[in-house]
Amino acid sequence: MNYKQHIAKKIILPEFSVEEITNNIVPAQEASHGDYSLPCFSFAKALKKSPIAIATEIKDKFTPDKYVSKVEVVAGYVNFFLERNEFIDGFLCDYQKNGTPFASNKPNKKTICIDYSSINIAKPFHIGHLLTTAIGGSLYRIFSHLGYNVVGINHLGDYGTQFGKLISAYKRWGNKEQIEKGGITALTEIYVKFHEEAKNDISLEDEARKYFLDIENGEKEAIELFNWFKALTMLEVEKVYKRLGVVFDSYNGEAFYNDKMQPVIDALENKKLLTVSDGAKVVDLEQFDMPPCLILKSDGASLYATRDLAAAMYRQSEYKFDKNLYVVAYQQNLHFKQVFKVLDLLGHKWADDCMHVPFGMVSLEGGLSMSTREGRVVYLSDVLQTAVDKTLFIIEQKNPNLEKQEKVEIAEKVGVGAVVFMALSTNRIKDLVFSFDRALNFDGETAPYIQYTHTRCRSILNKASLSKTKGDYELEDLTDDDSFAIIKVLSRFDEVVIASANKYEPSILAKYLIDLCQLFNKYYTIHKILGDKAREILTSIVAEAIKKGLSLLLIDAPDKM
Ligand code: ARG
Repeated sequence: MNYKQHIAKKIILPEFSVEEITNNIVPAQEASHGDYSLPCFSFAKALKKSPIAIATEIKDKFTPDKYVSKVEVVAGYVNFFLERNEFIDGFLCDYQKNGTPFASNKPNKKTICIDYSSINIAKPFHIGHLLTTAIGGSLYRIFSHLGYNVVGINHLGDYGTQFGKLISAYKRWGNKEQIEKGGITALTEIYVKFHEEAKNDISLEDEARKYFLDIENGEKEAIELFNWFKALTMLEVEKVYKRLGVVFDSYNGEAFYNDKMQPVIDALENKKLLTVSDGAKVVDLEQFDMPPCLILKSDGASLYATRDLAAAMYRQSEYKFDKNLYVVAYQQNLHFKQVFKVLDLLGHKWADDCMHVPFGMVSLEGGLSMSTREGRVVYLSDVLQTAVDKTLFIIEQKNPNLEKQEKVEIAEKVGVGAVVFMALSTNRIKDLVFSFDRALNFDGETAPYIQYTHTRCRSILNKASLSKTKGDYELEDLTDDDSFAIIKVLSRFDEVVIASANKYEPSILAKYLIDLCQLFNKYYTIHKILGDKAREILTSIVAEAIKKGLSLLLIDAPDKM
């Protein structure tokens, strides 16, 4: 039962469609103002009447029924009061029969590609990668939940002159044992050294170029070294992915497209889209107010954009996507605008289905600015570990009687969850200043707060199952203002997940979970739940909503903490 639509259909306002009216209906701000509210200001403007006149007209023509019992006008708003018994009955029936609104939707035959994390080989996996990895990973789960076939793609940065530099640096200052042991950190160290030394010795750059050519030409030793750097990187990165619970279906990165760019260039030539500028081949985009998109350098080498064009075409032919997302920082806004425009100029209708999902920058509160070349790096694995260590300390204070192993497992879920939630709860386009104190505040708008609310529910339910609360319950037991407020929020779960997907914005779901928890915690302090069958059931549904919601945000909900 879609209440908004039901109300909209009954409203007599012929100048506007049911859909327009539905979209204007919002949950009422205060319980005393009913359950749903329709502001009439935009209608008033269009019809050149006063909002109160329109609201009154709507009210007068509205006939209450078994779902909507009362209508009132306050200022320019029409407020609708629901028949609570009917609403609760509908909600519980759906929940008990189909597990809705928390059950996963049926497959919808739509495919969505999500390009996220997309790290660079032999470079540190640092805190700057937190947002793309968390947002992309969460969207992966949200779209899967909604029934999409999701393809998670890690478009690895495994191509470019920096690999020539690394080989040169390794041959000069590295040795197998040291790199094997030190991993990316050791690779970064020699990479930094290369840049320092190259300041005084220009021959180093030439040497690096030669090694890069060796990779391009498939020279055995160069390829072996490159593959080794790649394996070392992936080994470290996979550990972090596992902790975060993110998955990928493809690791086809930039190098994968080495032999797939000629068709792109041919197509551009055929359509006469390439022009020569300073020896380089570019697509002129002046009439679209953009600088030219670089396709081939003067030495014939391809560029980042060339590979992204090939990648988009490959994804379309391989996966036949309905949507193709790129979860990449806003610094690359122009790059994606250019790439999508060139796809459009090539005549690909699906260019409209390609979408850049940008996000802001992350920095660490009180931390240094980062520069890989100069060796100033905040590793994501260190951020996670610090959060987990701090959580373990807090749990030891709060719940000293838990077993050691249990404490360690809970600290992992809560510490990692705190970091992820901080990344996902801010509007994604905003820059994020990461703070451990804020992320781990058990009373703040944080994962630990939500997880704690979940354990509170679980503990009530455990006691309830021990005491086996007797008897049945009546729907009336849940019609009081406070219970009904919770049921209304629970019933919006689906709508919120869909809104998060439509806007590619997990923060909508994150904020919803905070609201739900705040409401429940207030309820918990005012009402005695244990021993009241109806309230126990309500509590179990709240626990399920929290657990499901958190899982869509990549976060686990332990039963105790
Ligand atoms: N590796 C790139 C970087 O770190 C991000 C790649 C994003 N994906 C893409 N298809 N361009 O900046």
